[in-house]
Amino acid sequence: MPEYRNARIILNEEISSGIYKIVVEAQAGDKVKPGQFFMLKCWDAEPVLWRPISISEVDEGSVTFLCAKTGRGTEKLVSLKSGQEIQLLGPLGNGFDTEKLGGRIALVCGGIGIAPMVELSKRLSGFKPDLYAGFRNEGYAVDEIKKYAGNIYISTEDGSTGHKGYVTEIFDASDYDAVLCCGPEVMMEKVLRHCREKGKKVYVSMEKHMACGVGACLVCTCRTKDGNRRTCKDGPVFDGDELVLD
Ligand SMILES: Cc1cc2nc3c(=O)[nH]c(=O)nc-3n(C[C@H](O)[C@H](O)[C@H](O)COP(=O)(O)OP(=O)(O)OC[C@H]3O[C@@H](n4cnc5c(N)ncnc54)[C@H](O)[C@@H]3O)c2cc1C
Ligand code: FES
Repeated sequence: MPEYRNARIILNEEISSGIYKIVVEAQAGDKVKPGQFFMLKCWDAEPVLWRPISISEVDEGSVTFLCAKTGRGTEKLVSLKSGQEIQLLGPLGNGFDTEKLGGRIALVCGGIGIAPMVELSKRLSGFKPDLYAGFRNEGYAVDEIKKYAGNIYISTEDGSTGHKGYVTEIFDASDYDAVLCCGPEVMMEKVLRHCREKGKKVYVSMEKHMACGVGACLVCTCRTKDGNRRTCKDGPVFDGDELVLD
């Protein structure tokens, strides 16, 4: 059951330009899965809505988030200091079902989509999953994932690290039994189409605008073979076979 609570900030530091690592004192529960998220808030009136942020790592007594400063809500979240309080609702949604996975696994992500890959790589460390991560320029969180992963492939749009261009240009699903993907919609769509062409199993974490985060308002729907589904409640992680692309 998602739980509402206030949690103390243990650490909030900028790990790359505009990207913050926020560690809060909280128990996420035994059953938490990578790919699940919390709704976060640290304000009373404005903005009205809570903001969905993925669980990046869980530990006994702490939850780590990676937060990109993009607008009004995230600006407030990243300006919190250690010792201050934040409001949490979660864990929410359906994450990656790591217990059902095995064999050769690829983790494919773009930008802040790397956030859930930290806990995901930790849970899948027995399989040494390969990481394909794309960034605009400077990368982040890759060192944490290195501890658990096999090969690491990086792309940057400015060519400062790894391949110059997009991560989809260096990713080939041919060698993998399963592909787990999180990032901008356009990237995920390319990965999904590519995996379908190659006949590979793919799971994607969908990113939609959210309001309630708990399945009540229907603003976050995405199209599946069974009709519209709520990204916050039925996802955000979906089996790629279920999703309908435009
Ligand atoms: C399931 C889920 C998990 C997420 N995990 C993370 C995470 O781990 N770290 C992180 O930094 N962000 C994550 N996001 C995105 C994050 O929720 C949005 O960036 C945030 O809500 C923007 O709020 P804001 O008030 O700062 O920006 P706003 O002022 O509301 O908007 C600023 C810009 O961000 C865009 N935006 C707003 N909401 C979203 C959204 N849901 N998806 C994409 N763009 C959006 C707006 O269109 C606008 O261009 C996640 C989103 C979802 C749905
Ligand atoms: S955000 Fe309200 S139903 Fe998903």
